[in-house]
Amino acid sequence: KRPVGVPDKSLARKVTKVGIIGAGLMASQLALLFLRRLQVPVVLTDLDQERVDKGVGYVHAEIDKLVAKKRMDEGTAAKLRLLVSGSVDKSVFADADFVIEAVFENLDLKKQIWAEFEKIVKPEAILATNTSSLSITEMAADLEHPERLVGFHFFNPVAVLPLLEIIRGEKTDDATLATAFEVGKTLKKSSVLVKDAPAFVVNRLLTRVTSEIFQAVDAGTPLDVVNVAMDPLGLPMRPIALLQLVGPAVAYHVGETLHAAFPDRYVDSPNLKRIVDSKLPVMVDKEINPEVI
Ligand code: CAA
Repeated sequence: KRPVGVPDKSLARKVTKVGIIGAGLMASQLALLFLRRLQVPVVLTDLDQERVDKGVGYVHAEIDKLVAKKRMDEGTAAKLRLLVSGSVDKSVFADADFVIEAVFENLDLKKQIWAEFEKIVKPEAILATNTSSLSITEMAADLEHPERLVGFHFFNPVAVLPLLEIIRGEKTDDATLATAFEVGKTLKKSSVLVKDAPAFVVNRLLTRVTSEIFQAVDAGTPLDVVNVAMDPLGLPMRPIALLQLVGPAVAYHVGETLHAAFPDRYVDSPNLKRIVDSKLPVMVDKEINPEVI
């Protein structure tokens, strides 16, 4: 049964090539997922060749691991290795039908990127953003074709977590939304249509947890104490380990969006800011890094 608000799949466009903007933590995981599930050419781009090579290198290494674990046969692996590529030359996106962006969580940067890519990609290409918190409507505001931008938000680790938040902006059209849901199905994710509201659904909850924890830290409870204090809740991962997995800077920027929207509920923690500015890992060998305490 089709969920409420999801257009008929007959409106979905065919996806025969995927473009990924960014080659970092999320982007390279997305490249692997699209490659495995869609088995179409996937191209990555980033600011410089070193980043691009790192992203493609990650995909190759993960394919090797899957083969070693006997979860992928060598024939499929050989085919997928040929389908993934990276380039700093953005013209390779010209024939992509589905372009997903997973860059730094900053609205101006994302708007600038879409303005640039809109001139490169074909008119019917779907533009998807993996933003964790930013407004899809605002991100699309200056586009020539705002109707083809859609929120397409994954969770880390992408290979394991089944949820996909799909977000319709004010101008997103039915064909774009239908394609997003069909792609979500091919990726074997559980797609949910969520409102274009600050940080959508899941990050509102996760950020609220982080926000409360850092209020306790700001009030004087040591970070290593709050880290273990959550154990009785039986979460799959301690919240500070999760902060490390997501990246403190990403979590901080999501927090900024939520703090601006709901200042009474989400604090702007000086201790979290200090950790982000230090660029040090919060966790080392499953313990809080003594350098950040
Ligand atoms: N990439 C690929 N596979 C991974 C992986 C990764 N980074 N991390 C773990 N896995 C796989 C393992 O290979 C293993 O697979 P098999 O069982 O098939 O061998 C499986 O996941 C379980 O891993 P482990 O046994 O090592 O460890 P675990 O049982 O503790 O699970 C976890 C690890 C899946 C990460 C789990 O701790 C978990 O779900 N943590 C919570 C993660 C979470 O909440 N993420 C959301 C973050 S918010 C976000 O991403 C959105 C945002 O916008 C900021």
